[in-house]
Amino acid sequence: MPAVVASAPGRVNLIGEHTDYNGGLCLPLALPQRTTVRLETRSDPRLRLRSRQESDGWEGAVEDRPTGWAAYVAGVVAALRADGDDVPGFDAEIDSDVPLGAGLSSSAALECATAVAVAALIGLDLDDPGRRRLAAACIRAENDYVGAPTGGMDQTVAMLARPGHALLLDFAGDDVTQVPVPLPLEDAGLVLLVTDTRVSHTLTDGSYGDRRTECRAAAAALGVTELSRADLRRVEAMADLVLRRRARHVLTENDRVRSAVALIGAGDWTGLGRVLDASHVSMRDDFEISCRELDLAVTAARGAGALGARMTGGGFGGSAVALVPASALDDVRRAVTAAFAEAGLAEPAHLVATPGEAARVETVS
Ligand code: GLA
Repeated sequence: MPAVVASAPGRVNLIGEHTDYNGGLCLPLALPQRTTVRLETRSDPRLRLRSRQESDGWEGAVEDRPTGWAAYVAGVVAALRADGDDVPGFDAEIDSDVPLGAGLSSSAALECATAVAVAALIGLDLDDPGRRRLAAACIRAENDYVGAPTGGMDQTVAMLARPGHALLLDFAGDDVTQVPVPLPLEDAGLVLLVTDTRVSHTLTDGSYGDRRTECRAAAAALGVTELSRADLRRVEAMADLVLRRRARHVLTENDRVRSAVALIGAGDWTGLGRVLDASHVSMRDDFEISCRELDLAVTAARGAGALGARMTGGGFGGSAVALVPASALDDVRRAVTAAFAEAGLAEPAHLVATPGEAARVETVS
């Protein structure tokens, strides 16, 4: 039976949070950490899944609707079959070094690795339109099959990322536009330090969905279909304080993404650091998605020499990202770890994010 190995990256978002489902801007990059899926075709339509990171496997038909990690694989198969693609049953073996539950999109990595492996198995195009179609199937898998009401940032960057670049994504209207933004961190003597707070983050517990609901309510109150299309002056005049804060975050965050892209282009890394800091304050105070551990990671990193730092991803736990002079990397890492120990918190995990490659086929045999 034909066998395919494919892989897809986790991601870290440099800036632009909770903007994707509001028709706004974000600037993620692919991590070097990847999820690998090995598929071997079966003669029946069933799936048999195993993961090196999980003790239990899963076997069944996509109609059985598994829960947990198996749903991300089965959901992609269901979405592609619904598109009319003739996806056979398969046995899959999964392996990953993307940290799980850390807000670094391990789920999108699993979806996109599965989608690319299936594409190679049945001969679907992996050019730009082909990748966009697969990303759309992965988003439907996540929204409709898994039941996580996320936007499209994670799957889009996992499918379209370029090494050495962040990806400026614009979710205005129906079609996502993407512009690769060179990120010459090494030449600038900088590193992006990602700190996993070990506060497990999930997109299905309702908190993320609450923010989505509030944004929808704010857009309706402002008479726009996408919150990003609202006018900030009208936002500041909103009577409902909570909706006003949520909308203010989304609009000012879009502006910060624009500033970040301009500052990166100009090599103004100090300026970029300030914008990252402002983004964190907005997420902490206006969007209210930070937590004690994320605030601590950000403050400790800054205190030890980071140019700027912010929480990244969906929030309510997960990871922070800091822009750090390479010469201060060890100090920053140590300072964050020490701050957690002093506060009696579990030891955080650190990784250095260099912009990696999109989902790809590894081998076909
Ligand atoms: C999660 C979601 C994304 C995005 C971010 C917040 O990662 O999957 O779609 O909304 O949160 O920016």
